[in-house]
Amino acid sequence: MQAIIEELKTTAARTNATDIRAAFAADPGRFDKFSASFDDLMMDYSKTAVNDDVLRLLEQLAETGGVADKREEMFSGAPINFTEGRAVLHTALRNRSNTPVLVDGKDVMADVNAVLAAMDRFADGIRSGALKGATGKAITDVVNIGIGGSDLGPVMATLALAPFHDGPRAHFVSNVDGAHIADTLKLLNAETTLFIIASKTFTTIETMTNAASARAFIADKLGNDAVKHHFAAVSTALDKVAAFGIEQDRVFGFWDWVGGRYSIWSAIGLPLMIAIGPDNFGKFLDGAHAMDTHFRSAPVRQNLPMLLGLIGFYHRNVLGYSTRAILPYDQRLLRFPAYLQQLDMESNGKGVTIDGKPVEANSGPVVWGEPGTNGQHAFYQLIHQGTSIIPAEFMIAANGFEPHLRHQHDLLIANCLAQSEALMKGRTFEEAKAQLTAKGMDDKQADFIAPHRVFTGNRPSITFVYDKLTPFALGRLIALYEHRVFVEGVLFRINSFDQWGVELGKELATGLLPVVEGKESAESHDSSTQGLVKALAGMKKA
Ligand code: F6P
Repeated sequence: MQAIIEELKTTAARTNATDIRAAFAADPGRFDKFSASFDDLMMDYSKTAVNDDVLRLLEQLAETGGVADKREEMFSGAPINFTEGRAVLHTALRNRSNTPVLVDGKDVMADVNAVLAAMDRFADGIRSGALKGATGKAITDVVNIGIGGSDLGPVMATLALAPFHDGPRAHFVSNVDGAHIADTLKLLNAETTLFIIASKTFTTIETMTNAASARAFIADKLGNDAVKHHFAAVSTALDKVAAFGIEQDRVFGFWDWVGGRYSIWSAIGLPLMIAIGPDNFGKFLDGAHAMDTHFRSAPVRQNLPMLLGLIGFYHRNVLGYSTRAILPYDQRLLRFPAYLQQLDMESNGKGVTIDGKPVEANSGPVVWGEPGTNGQHAFYQLIHQGTSIIPAEFMIAANGFEPHLRHQHDLLIANCLAQSEALMKGRTFEEAKAQLTAKGMDDKQADFIAPHRVFTGNRPSITFVYDKLTPFALGRLIALYEHRVFVEGVLFRINSFDQWGVELGKELATGLLPVVEGKESAESHDSSTQGLVKALAGMKKA
C-alpha cells in the first residue's frame, strides 16, 4: 500500500492534480467524468484534485488495501472489532431483505425483527394515546436521556425529519450539566411526559445521573408508583435496566455488535420512531439498506461510499489536509456535522494500526461544520482565503418542504453552488485589480488593495444533491457516511469500531468526583489540577 501512496504523491505532483481550475478549463467533460449517482443521490467530485491517473491509483489502493474483503467480513458478521471481540453489524438492523446474518453461527434477524416489532407497538401506543401516564392522560412530550451515540443520532434525525414529525414533542437531554435537564423539565408537565433512558451500557455517568433526576421529578410530582408509567429504556444491559426499576415490557434491547455511534438503526431510534411513526422509521431503514446494497455491489467508480472514502483518504494521507468541513445547505441538518464528528472522529481518531504499531502517516481528520448559509457569514472566510486547505462537503436538496417559499430554496441552492464554484475558481490578482479599476480606483491604489481580494481557488469540494430530505433519503445519507468512515478506516489500517480514547477521561472524572466534593484530598493529582480544585472550592456555594 505504501508504494501506491508514494506513487499517488508523485502522480498528483506530476499531473498538477491540485490545479483544479486548470483541469476544468482543459476538459469540458470533467463533471460527467467525475460525478456519480445512486438513484436521485448525486455526488459531484469533479471539484477535487482527482484525475484519471489519481483515480486509477485510488482504485488500486482499495484493491491492495483489501477494502472489498473487509467489507464482506463486516456484512457477514466476522468479529472485525477485534479489540473488543465483536462483530460490527449495524447493517443487520436495517437488513430489509431479511436474509440471514450469522453471529457465532446464530441468525440475528429474528431478534432484530422482534425488537423492531416491539418498538412499533410501543410507539403506536404512545402516539395514539393508548399508553397513558399515571393519571390517565396521553403523553405529549418524550424526553430521551442519553449521550454520544445514544443521543446524537436520535436528536440529529428527529430535527432533520421535522416535516414528518406528527407524534408527541421530542426533547433530548445529554449533558451532565444540571442546566440541561433543568431547562428541559421547566417546560414539561410530569403527567404527560415519558422519559426514555438510552444507554448501551447503562453505566454512563451522565445518563445515569440525568435518569435519577428525571425519576425524582416524576416521583416528586406524581409519587413513586407513577414511575413505571413514565419511563422506558433502551440498552444492551437488560439486568441493569431491571435494577433501575423500568418495567420489562418497556425495555428495548440491542446487542454488543451495534456500536454506540452506529446505533440509530436499533432501539436507540425509538424517540425518532415515536416522533415520525413506525412507517416513516421503516422508510429510514429502507434508505440505509439501499445504500448498504449499493456499497456492497457497485463497482468502485460508481460506488458513492467507496469514492467518498478514497477521496477522503487521498485528501488526508496524500495531500495532507488535516480537517474536513461538512456544510449541509439544509437548516434541518443542523446537527448532522456534530453527528458525523462522533461517527468519524470516534471511529478513525486512532494512533495504532491493527498490528498494534503506531500509525505512520495520519488517521482520521478533524471533522466540523455548520449548515450553510449561516457558516458563510462565520468561518467561510478561512476556507476561502486562509492558509490551510479545507476540503468541503456540501449537500443540498432540489426541493424543500415549503413550496410557498420556493424562492428561498432557490436562493439556498444558488448559495451552495456559488460557494463550491468560488472555492474552485478563486479570483486572480488581475481579476481583482480589474474589478477595482472598473470601479474608478487609480492604478496604484488598485495594486495595493488587489492582493487582499485575491482568492487562490483550487480549494476542493464535493457536492451531494438529492431530491428531498425524506426519511429514506436521510437513512441513505447516514449510511453513505458510515461506509465512507469504514473505507477510510480500512485504508488507515486501524480498528474503526472501538473507542478506548474515551475511557481515560471517564475513569479520571470518576476518580476526581470525591476530590471536587471535598471528601478526598487532591494531593495525588498534578499541581494544575490541585490549583483548579482549590480555586473552584474557594468560590463554591452550597
Ligand atoms: O463517548 C463514548 C461512548 O462510549 C460512545 O461510544 C457512546 O455512544 C456513548 O459513550 C454512550 O454510551 P452508552 O450508550 O453506553 O451510555
